Amino acid sequence: MPRLTSLSGRRALVTGASSGLGRALALRVAREGARVALVARRAEALAALASEIRGGGGDALVLPCDVSDRSQVEASAERVQSAWGGVDLLVNNAGYGHHRPFLRWDVEDMERMMQVNFLGGLYWTKALLPGMVSRGEGWVVFVSSVVGRIGNPDETAYVASKFAQAGLAEALSIEVEDRGVHVLTVFPGAIRTPFFDEEALARMPSAAKSQMVEPEDLVGAILRALARGRRELTWPRALAGAYVVKALLPGFFRWGVKRAALPAPDPVDEAESAATEGE
Ligand SMILES: NC(=O)c1ccc[n+]([C@@H]2O[C@H](COP(=O)([O-])OP(=O)(O)OC[C@H]3O[C@@H](n4cnc5c(N)ncnc54)[C@H](OP(=O)(O)O)[C@@H]3O)[C@@H](O)[C@H]2O)c1
Repeated sequence: MPRLTSLSGRRALVTGASSGLGRALALRVAREGARVALVARRAEALAALASEIRGGGGDALVLPCDVSDRSQVEASAERVQSAWGGVDLLVNNAGYGHHRPFLRWDVEDMERMMQVNFLGGLYWTKALLPGMVSRGEGWVVFVSSVVGRIGNPDETAYVASKFAQAGLAEALSIEVEDRGVHVLTVFPGAIRTPFFDEEALARMPSAAKSQMVEPEDLVGAILRALARGRRELTWPRALAGAYVVKALLPGFFRWGVKRAALPAPDPVDEAESAATEGE
């Protein structure tokens, strides 16, 4: 199985590079000697990051792109392939989420979440995987979430998008491993990034806040996982214990999920559910 033990001279592409985990990852891979293509919608944030990378002696390509738009992904993939001849490491990281009761969640946003979090990674992988397969070498990382394995309440559409991403990654990993392409799926717990706005942070119990992981620590764990040829990474590692409990003690697991779940910002009360039913 191919292990990515050195990034020197490699060509990387990181989606969601304008903020949080993607930004930290792009900076780190550039520092380790890879050229890095930066993908997100906010062109100015990408340009500022590219300047920072170039200032440190690295090489960066700015690719403003909405990952949910297939034609934009295909055009951006063309640009990076004609500039660099291909990409060795693709990190499907762009995504967003929020807490919202299912009954209050508008379908348009649910569709959009699936398009960004799931189809965005699928489009990028469709565009860049053929080059990896023809070179007989490549790495694809999908940044899912622990809720890509655990159905947290009040996050239904986000959970669905992250389960979909994890399913795609698992199947693809088996399909392409004999052709030299390694797929890693990352299942992070809460990371300290702008993903959580002020309002979400205010609702979060202080114990949960204190357990949030720093993006740089997760970046280090991702690079170590790639160097060791690991196919899955849950971070922090202790969270993986929940998968065992889920498999062995499903009733206890559901009780625990209910207790640990972050309260929804705007819960639906019984009177409102009854009113909705009557409409
Ligand atoms: N933070 C957490 O606790 C946590 C936990 C588990 C998993 N994750 C996952 O980790 C990944 C990174 O999240 P983060 O915590 O770093 O959040 P973040 O700081 O909010 O960054 C999200 C990134 O995704 C990009 N993005 C969003 N929609 C996009 C679109 N339509 N097209 C292109 N880029 C888009 C954003 O860029 P633009 O706005 O410039 O487009 C931004 O760069 C996400 O997939 C998230 O689901 C996060």
